[in-house]
Amino acid sequence: MAQPSLNIGMVGHVDHGKTTLVKALSGVWTDTHSEEIKRGISIRLGYADTVFRKCPTCAEPDCYSVEKKCPHCGGKTEEAKTVSFVDAPGHETLMATMLSGAAIMDGAMLVIAANEKCPQPQTKEHLMALNIIGIKNVVIVQNKIDLVSRERVLEHYKEIKEFVKGTVAEKAPIIPISAQQNINIDALIQALDTYIPVPEHKAEKETQMLIARSFDINHPGFTYEEIKGGVIGGTLTQGTFKEGDDVEIRPGLKITSDGMTRWEPIQTKITEIHAGKSKVKKALPGGLLALGTTLDPFLTKGDSLTGQVVGKPGTLPPTRDGFLMKLDLLKRVVGVTNEAEINEIKTSEPLMLNIGTATTVGVVTSVRKGVAEVKLKRPVCVENGAHVAISRRIDSRWRLIGVGIIED
Ligand code: GTP
Repeated sequence: MAQPSLNIGMVGHVDHGKTTLVKALSGVWTDTHSEEIKRGISIRLGYADTVFRKCPTCAEPDCYSVEKKCPHCGGKTEEAKTVSFVDAPGHETLMATMLSGAAIMDGAMLVIAANEKCPQPQTKEHLMALNIIGIKNVVIVQNKIDLVSRERVLEHYKEIKEFVKGTVAEKAPIIPISAQQNINIDALIQALDTYIPVPEHKAEKETQMLIARSFDINHPGFTYEEIKGGVIGGTLTQGTFKEGDDVEIRPGLKITSDGMTRWEPIQTKITEIHAGKSKVKKALPGGLLALGTTLDPFLTKGDSLTGQVVGKPGTLPPTRDGFLMKLDLLKRVVGVTNEAEINEIKTSEPLMLNIGTATTVGVVTSVRKGVAEVKLKRPVCVENGAHVAISRRIDSRWRLIGVGIIED
């Protein structure tokens, strides 16, 4: 399997079928006992990686599948594209995780179950998040068509059309499927292949990897010789990494001494690179990667480095503990039954900010002419011009209220 060339996000309301669909799309793998798994580096960042395959003799969309043998003619299929799926939990309390995942999505499938009226609260909130983060390549999946009548499928189609008007998904294709019964999966793969193209890979730029997960892969009872260094997983947004590269992680480690807190970049070396199901010598942008490092695994345990950025030493954007951002707020709160108006941002109010894969809280120190200044509880490593998804605490949970663009 080649290195995955792009990340496809799975978004949508809870129980609309994202997990079932990923299973339908990843097929059955014969290499589950590969070397990688035996050695413990079986890194599942999202749900799965898969290869979209095409039969050279069958017509579209019948030619698309994830099987090595064409389900229609039995002929040998060819690899078309290797993709990684990025999980976005559908439950409303997991919006921060969804937003961090969205930062590494090149496109997304918005899964909407046909046996419920559209839109459900998180269908709406997730689409708004795609809109805010600027994920334009969206394929809408109308799932569970096996549970409803043909009339209901058509009516639900109209509900979706109405709902996506004026959003990034306005022109997105709507593919009716049953993930559970494997109906129309070929047409869905065709749509994904067409509407979520491989992004332009900026391999020549300074390397930057957004960390989505980090792990300690050692088991109790490992001997000293067996212990492996910390593992970090994420996506290269630009540049390349090679096995043996010296790298820096920012903001790094929080150090408190004499009542003062500072963040010190972490220096380490890449010992191995896993992309998709293979071990590679060199990694390119696109798809999810796992890097083995020489770090003390204690530093990477339990996703402790999620939200940080990896690059070559001395090349990463600055670590900031505050910034100015130009605000673009939504008119109404989405994802709730009672869609109240969004009031202006006020001085001293805490906001949840998602920047890349990082989630932090920023306290507003001033607001004027649509520009807010925030002081961060936890610093981030980010460039000017980056997008910030802004959430506010409403009725004891964080609700997405708009986007900010970092000015300084
Ligand atoms: P979260 O991850 O919790 O947000 O849920 P999800 O969107 O991943 O939903 P999941 O795949 O777990 O599916 C929820 C339920 O719907 C399960 O019981 C599935 O078996 C069922 N389901 C999913 N797709 C279909 C379908 O196409 N037809 C039918 N009949 N049931 C389906």
